[in-house]
Amino acid sequence: MLHRSKHVTILNLVWGPHMTAMPHNHHMWATIGMYAGREDNIYWRVLPDGAKWPIEAAGASSFMPGDVGTLGPDIIHSVTNPLGKLTAALHVYGGDFLKQAREQWDEETLACRPFDTDIARRAFEESNRFLTGA
Ligand SMILES: [Fe+2]
Repeated sequence: MLHRSKHVTILNLVWGPHMTAMPHNHHMWATIGMYAGREDNIYWRVLPDGAKWPIEAAGASSFMPGDVGTLGPDIIHSVTNPLGKLTAALHVYGGDFLKQAREQWDEETLACRPFDTDIARRAFEESNRFLTGA
Protein backbone atom coordinates (compact mmCIF):
# COMPACT_ATOMS: atom_id res chain seq x y z
CA MET A 1 0.00 0.00 0.00
CA LEU A 2 1.36 3.35 -1.03
CA HIS A 3 -1.36 5.61 0.34
CA ARG A 4 -4.61 5.23 2.24
CA SER A 5 -7.15 7.85 3.21
CA LYS A 6 -10.94 8.12 3.21
CA HIS A 7 -10.71 9.80 -0.23
CA VAL A 8 -8.04 7.79 -2.08
CA THR A 9 -6.24 4.44 -1.76
CA ILE A 10 -3.17 3.70 -3.87
CA LEU A 11 -1.90 0.13 -4.13
CA ASN A 12 1.08 -1.26 -5.99
CA LEU A 13 -0.48 -4.57 -6.98
CA VAL A 14 1.69 -7.38 -8.34
CA TRP A 15 -0.12 -10.43 -9.66
CA GLY A 16 1.59 -13.80 -9.78
CA PRO A 17 1.78 -15.91 -12.94
CA HIS A 18 -1.69 -16.94 -14.14
CA MET A 19 -3.45 -15.52 -11.06
CA THR A 20 -7.16 -14.82 -11.40
CA ALA A 21 -9.39 -12.72 -9.18
CA MET A 22 -13.03 -13.81 -9.15
CA PRO A 23 -15.70 -11.30 -10.17
CA HIS A 24 -15.92 -8.47 -7.63
CA ASN A 25 -16.92 -4.85 -7.35
CA HIS A 26 -15.37 -1.83 -5.64
CA HIS A 27 -18.27 0.63 -5.05
CA MET A 28 -15.85 3.42 -6.01
CA TRP A 29 -14.04 4.50 -9.16
CA ALA A 30 -10.65 3.00 -9.92
CA THR A 31 -7.78 3.81 -12.23
CA ILE A 32 -5.25 1.12 -13.16
CA GLY A 33 -1.83 2.20 -14.42
CA MET A 34 -0.03 -0.82 -15.87
CA TYR A 35 3.76 -0.95 -15.81
CA ALA A 36 4.57 -4.66 -16.31
CA GLY A 37 2.89 -7.75 -17.69
CA ARG A 38 -0.77 -7.77 -18.68
CA GLU A 39 -4.16 -7.69 -16.97
CA ASP A 40 -7.12 -9.23 -18.77
CA ASN A 41 -10.45 -7.97 -17.46
CA ILE A 42 -13.88 -9.48 -17.95
CA TYR A 43 -16.69 -7.06 -17.14
CA TRP A 44 -19.91 -8.49 -15.77
CA ARG A 45 -23.47 -7.24 -15.53
CA VAL A 46 -26.10 -8.21 -12.97
CA LEU A 47 -29.05 -10.15 -14.38
CA PRO A 48 -32.63 -9.81 -13.13
CA ASP A 49 -33.94 -12.14 -10.44
CA GLY A 50 -35.02 -15.44 -11.97
CA ALA A 51 -32.27 -15.47 -14.61
CA LYS A 52 -30.23 -18.67 -14.93
CA TRP A 53 -27.17 -16.96 -13.43
CA PRO A 54 -26.85 -13.87 -11.19
CA ILE A 55 -24.37 -12.17 -13.57
CA GLU A 56 -23.15 -12.56 -17.14
CA ALA A 57 -20.05 -11.45 -19.01
CA ALA A 58 -20.66 -8.11 -20.73
CA GLY A 59 -17.29 -7.07 -22.10
CA ALA A 60 -13.55 -7.35 -21.79
CA SER A 61 -10.37 -5.35 -21.98
CA SER A 62 -6.69 -6.06 -21.81
CA PHE A 63 -4.30 -3.66 -20.11
CA MET A 64 -0.69 -3.64 -21.32
CA PRO A 65 2.32 -1.76 -19.89
CA GLY A 66 1.73 1.97 -20.36
CA ASP A 67 -2.06 1.58 -20.47
CA VAL A 68 -4.29 3.38 -18.00
CA GLY A 69 -7.63 1.74 -17.42
CA THR A 70 -10.57 3.44 -15.74
CA LEU A 71 -13.35 1.60 -13.94
CA GLY A 72 -16.59 3.26 -12.91
CA PRO A 73 -17.99 2.85 -9.39
CA ASP A 74 -20.59 0.27 -10.49
CA ILE A 75 -18.25 -2.00 -12.41
CA ILE A 76 -18.03 -5.73 -11.67
CA HIS A 77 -14.89 -7.32 -13.06
CA SER A 78 -12.69 -10.37 -12.83
CA VAL A 79 -8.99 -10.08 -13.55
CA THR A 80 -6.51 -12.59 -14.93
CA ASN A 81 -2.79 -12.39 -15.40
CA PRO A 82 -2.48 -14.58 -18.51
CA LEU A 83 1.32 -14.59 -18.43
CA GLY A 84 3.79 -16.94 -16.80
CA LYS A 85 5.49 -14.00 -15.08
CA LEU A 86 4.57 -11.15 -12.74
CA THR A 87 2.11 -8.47 -13.76
CA ALA A 88 2.18 -5.11 -11.98
CA ALA A 89 0.12 -1.93 -11.85
CA LEU A 90 -0.62 1.05 -9.68
CA HIS A 91 -4.26 0.85 -8.59
CA VAL A 92 -5.86 4.10 -7.48
CA TYR A 93 -9.29 3.86 -5.83
CA GLY A 94 -11.62 6.74 -5.07
CA GLY A 95 -12.09 6.03 -1.38
CA ASP A 96 -10.87 3.88 1.47
CA PHE A 97 -10.66 0.69 -0.56
CA LEU A 98 -9.74 -1.53 2.38
CA LYS A 99 -12.65 -0.32 4.51
CA GLN A 100 -15.32 -0.38 1.80
CA ALA A 101 -17.87 -3.20 2.10
CA ARG A 102 -18.23 -4.84 -1.31
CA GLU A 103 -19.22 -8.08 -3.03
CA GLN A 104 -17.69 -10.95 -4.96
CA TRP A 105 -19.27 -13.58 -7.19
CA ASP A 106 -18.28 -17.24 -6.83
CA GLU A 107 -16.07 -18.45 -9.69
CA GLU A 108 -18.11 -21.59 -10.28
CA THR A 109 -21.70 -20.72 -9.37
CA LEU A 110 -21.52 -16.92 -9.85
CA ALA A 111 -23.44 -16.56 -6.58
CA CYS A 112 -23.02 -13.17 -4.92
CA ARG A 113 -21.61 -12.93 -1.41
CA PRO A 114 -19.77 -10.38 0.72
CA PHE A 115 -16.18 -9.83 -0.37
CA ASP A 116 -13.82 -12.04 1.63
CA THR A 117 -10.43 -10.40 2.07
CA ASP A 118 -8.99 -13.68 3.41
CA ILE A 119 -9.71 -15.47 0.11
CA ALA A 120 -7.88 -12.73 -1.80
CA ARG A 121 -4.96 -12.79 0.65
CA ARG A 122 -4.68 -16.58 0.35
CA ALA A 123 -4.58 -16.34 -3.45
CA PHE A 124 -1.59 -13.99 -3.25
CA GLU A 125 0.12 -16.18 -0.61
CA GLU A 126 -0.41 -19.27 -2.77
CA SER A 127 1.07 -17.47 -5.76
CA ASN A 128 4.04 -16.33 -3.68
CA ARG A 129 4.66 -19.94 -2.56
CA PHE A 130 4.51 -21.05 -6.20
CA LEU A 131 7.05 -18.39 -7.18
CA THR A 132 9.46 -19.15 -4.35
CA GLY A 133 9.00 -22.93 -4.52
CA ALA A 134 8.14 -22.98 -0.79
FE1 LIG B 1 -10.96 -4.98 -8.85
